Amino acid sequence: MGMGFVGLTTAAFFSSRGIPVIGIEIDEIKNQKIREGWVEPYFHEDGLKELLDQVPEGYLKVGSDYNSAIKNTDMTMIAVGTPSDEQGKISLRFVESAARSIGIALIEKPGWHLVVVKSTVVPGTTRDVGRIIAEESGKIIGQDLGLCSNPEFLKEGSAVKDSLEPDRVMIGGFDEKSSQALAAFYQQIYKDRIAEKKTKIFCQGLENAELVKYTANSLLALKISFANEIATIAEKIPGVDVKEVMKGVFSDYRINREFLNAGLGFGGSCFPKDVIALLNFAIEKGCLAPILHALLQVNNNQVIHTIEIIEKILGGLNNKKIAILGLAFKPNTDDLREARSTKLVSNLLNKGARIFVTDPKVKYEDFISELIQEDAKRYNQVLRTILTDPSTNDEKKVHQVFQNTLKQSVTYGTIEECLEQASACILVTEWPEYNNISPKTFQSLMREPKLLFDGRRIYNALSFKDFDVKYQGIGLGAADT
Ligand code: UDX
Repeated sequence: MGMGFVGLTTAAFFSSRGIPVIGIEIDEIKNQKIREGWVEPYFHEDGLKELLDQVPEGYLKVGSDYNSAIKNTDMTMIAVGTPSDEQGKISLRFVESAARSIGIALIEKPGWHLVVVKSTVVPGTTRDVGRIIAEESGKIIGQDLGLCSNPEFLKEGSAVKDSLEPDRVMIGGFDEKSSQALAAFYQQIYKDRIAEKKTKIFCQGLENAELVKYTANSLLALKISFANEIATIAEKIPGVDVKEVMKGVFSDYRINREFLNAGLGFGGSCFPKDVIALLNFAIEKGCLAPILHALLQVNNNQVIHTIEIIEKILGGLNNKKIAILGLAFKPNTDDLREARSTKLVSNLLNKGARIFVTDPKVKYEDFISELIQEDAKRYNQVLRTILTDPSTNDEKKVHQVFQNTLKQSVTYGTIEECLEQASACILVTEWPEYNNISPKTFQSLMREPKLLFDGRRIYNALSFKDFDVKYQGIGLGAADT
């Protein structure tokens, strides 16, 4: 249930391995796109198209008729979204509505049926899902029905690879029978990897599995924020480079090197949302969780800190042309959710800068929509101005005017068009295409002071030594700091 990036990737993976799957999605427009998407899936995910091409004829069906889908299958996986509400608490409305639909469909279904919650949910939710299903169906969980939590660890951009080659499968079972049934399913799928000790299957209690997901994401986010905090300290010491410092740090066998890359901070659909959800969950339970609080603060500060550096070097930002290389929240995706680019551009616009952006995958219109959401404050200002003119007194018009205002200050172009006459360039997303921009290109296209701010540390600082480009990178203590 739910044909988002987790649901569709999982459905494509299972069906490509010969397991018949029915994808249930209430949004028929999305279904239509997926059906047409045998050639081009409706969002960009490396290898997904190829995986869908491997699905044997008839093994993956997509539709909105959950009733018949649930009745004609042995297991239902819930993979619907769990967005944040206005207070940052996890909103369970889609999960609860899925649970209700499953309960209704199971009233008349004979035999044992396994329900699995794949969506990221706070501890206790899967048990609640079970309660809703039991209420609706009149059946007993642990007797007539099985229930598991099975959190997902897929990364966007490598979701297909992560499905094919996971390090672990985490199963939280309501009872032994449920855990064993789901474990047997995965043992079959990952037979070879398990034999080679490359994939482990863990069976624990429901709430443990739910908390594993939040803990893993929060710890990874913490590693990033920790590296960013050290980077800010490193910037104050001439000649120090956080990248070198980290090499020394992770040569300790107890410290794994992953997710210690300092940069503009983390974005995406998971880390920011999950850390905030865990923080709110902790507060509700009476825990202060100061570390979760601090790691979010460090993440938000990376963008502000970057702008301060650029503003100082440029002597103000008003009317300065700033080039932005990369918009997606990370390479290999067109996803803009919580992307650092929107926060950065929105702040730069507020300081009067003119922005030129480029990205290999993100569409200009999508970026503008994201900016509108980010910039609710400015939007309200436009709203107020417009509302003084009664002839334009409608929300749609405000949206249009705001969109046009943004389009005047944010231009989209090629790498060269972006760099041309830009006083500063900020590398936001480390797309491989940007590795090859030579110091000479930056030098010849940009205008003084030709500041290149490397927000992901992809360039070698030394390669700019003989060029008239002012190179500055996150975590790099420059001589004049
Ligand atoms: C993450 C988790 O990795 C995955 O297990 C979970 O299922 C969903 O959330 P995802 O959001 O797709 O996956 O992206 P990920 O590759 O983890 O990167 C998240 C963000 O952290 C990106 O913005 C990335 O640029 C940033 N990041 C990552 C850093 O700033 N430094 C690092 O060292 C690593």
